[in-house]
Amino acid sequence: MEPYGIALVGCGTVGSGVAKLLLEHPDRLAARAGRPLELRHIVVHDPAKPRDSCIPRNLLTTDLRSAINDPAVQTVVEVMGGIEQAKRVVLDTLAAGKHVVTANKALLATHGAELFDAGRRHDRAIAFEGAVAGGIPIIGALCQGLAANQILSLQGILNGTCNYILTGMTENGQRYADVLREAQQKGYAESDPTLDVDGTDAAHKLAILVQIAFGVAVPFDAIRRRGIAELDLLDVRFAKELGYTIKLLAEAWFEPSTRSQESGVRAEESGGKLALHVSPVMLRQNSPLALVRDAYNALFVLGDAVGSTLYYGRGAGQMPTASAVVADLIDMAVGRAQQTFRSLKLWSGNHRSIVVRDPNTMRTRFYLRMMVEDRPGAMADITRVLAEHHISISSVIQHEAIEHADEDTEIVPLIIMTHTAATGSFLAACAGIDRLACVRPPSVYFPVGD
Ligand SMILES: NC(=O)c1ccc[n+]([C@@H]2O[C@H](COP(=O)([O-])OP(=O)(O)OC[C@H]3O[C@@H](n4cnc5c(N)ncnc54)[C@H](OP(=O)(O)O)[C@@H]3O)[C@@H](O)[C@H]2O)c1
Repeated sequence: MEPYGIALVGCGTVGSGVAKLLLEHPDRLAARAGRPLELRHIVVHDPAKPRDSCIPRNLLTTDLRSAINDPAVQTVVEVMGGIEQAKRVVLDTLAAGKHVVTANKALLATHGAELFDAGRRHDRAIAFEGAVAGGIPIIGALCQGLAANQILSLQGILNGTCNYILTGMTENGQRYADVLREAQQKGYAESDPTLDVDGTDAAHKLAILVQIAFGVAVPFDAIRRRGIAELDLLDVRFAKELGYTIKLLAEAWFEPSTRSQESGVRAEESGGKLALHVSPVMLRQNSPLALVRDAYNALFVLGDAVGSTLYYGRGAGQMPTASAVVADLIDMAVGRAQQTFRSLKLWSGNHRSIVVRDPNTMRTRFYLRMMVEDRPGAMADITRVLAEHHISISSVIQHEAIEHADEDTEIVPLIIMTHTAATGSFLAACAGIDRLACVRPPSVYFPVGD
């Protein structure tokens, strides 16, 4: 049977894994794709660079245009990373009448609408299983396995670097900077880890998942996000003492409108409200997501028919991501990816009028840690501010002094666990507390995911 021609753009961590799978297991892949998958070009920045011995040097090229326009190439795999150049590669590929497989979440989260419109215009497909949670087939699960459901919530650990750092801090009492260095040495973190640790990477992935699960394109900047770069070991210890573990979670909750339950209203036209954020969250120590260690990812998906489902695995790295990219290539070769792309209508083409909720209206319990002067009246001042904002207290812990600010005043950590409160009221209370003379700002807070 005629081979299925592939051009690979990028041969770094992911690209060389894709090349390895294609070149080392041709028979297995041909059996699943119904014909041989033929790697015809590998486009790189610098062909002279040392590479894995399995990469055939005769396939390396800098000539992107020829690779895309090779009549024998049916799909281009974009694994070069970055945004603007990668966007050009994808648009040129679609315009040339070829399909695209990409693992680039930043690209999809920022330019998904434009790229998917171009795909529809040229009647070519874009597949992106590798873009979210690496080797976990979550895109396939949402698009196919859970297609009969209205998804009600997503809750996941989507950044392996942060989870590795949090595991080191929680289990070994390591400081943030020390465990970050260790993650970099082991290849779990980039030399510039900013996009991982500030929550941006998890928010990119959440934006893509929300698009599939709820059919709504949330502007990336509308996703409130906090990372773990400021996390203090003190809070990791207090969380532990309270029976909790801190995890960086990407979360989305959907509340269908009452109209969607009326007869005669098609589900895809019904409205509803969506709340979403990326934040460190305190989870009970024995909850399944709290038990996800090291660089692993996990995601809970709640559907109205299926109930709660859990997906777990390696969320990044060479071979897990290559596994997802090559699965997309097989789907392209057999024509499944094209059908999915057509029926999904991602980023546009659906008629849902979902409202993204103001994050300040989201209600949750909170952990609040303040550094407070150990003097009479301090506690009364703090509880007064909380009461003014209708925040009620569930429990309080005060430890011995840990530091001397001057000769007379001791500063002690004071921890308050609140009952459920609106985020906006809680943040206003925090700001008020930080203005009190007895408090050394900034106070630290996390939502509590009971
Ligand atoms: N790494 C992971 O675990 C992982 C997991 C999931 C998704 N992803 C996504 O996969 C993509 C690739 O990540 P990566 O870690 O594999 O990146 P990487 O190791 O930095 O590799 C990038 C590759 O692209 C090539 N390249 C860069 N600019 C180019 C240009 N202008 N023209 C031609 N080639 C160019 C580089 O060529 P040279 O080799 O000549 O420098 C290199 O081979 C990113 O979008 C990333 O977000 C990565």
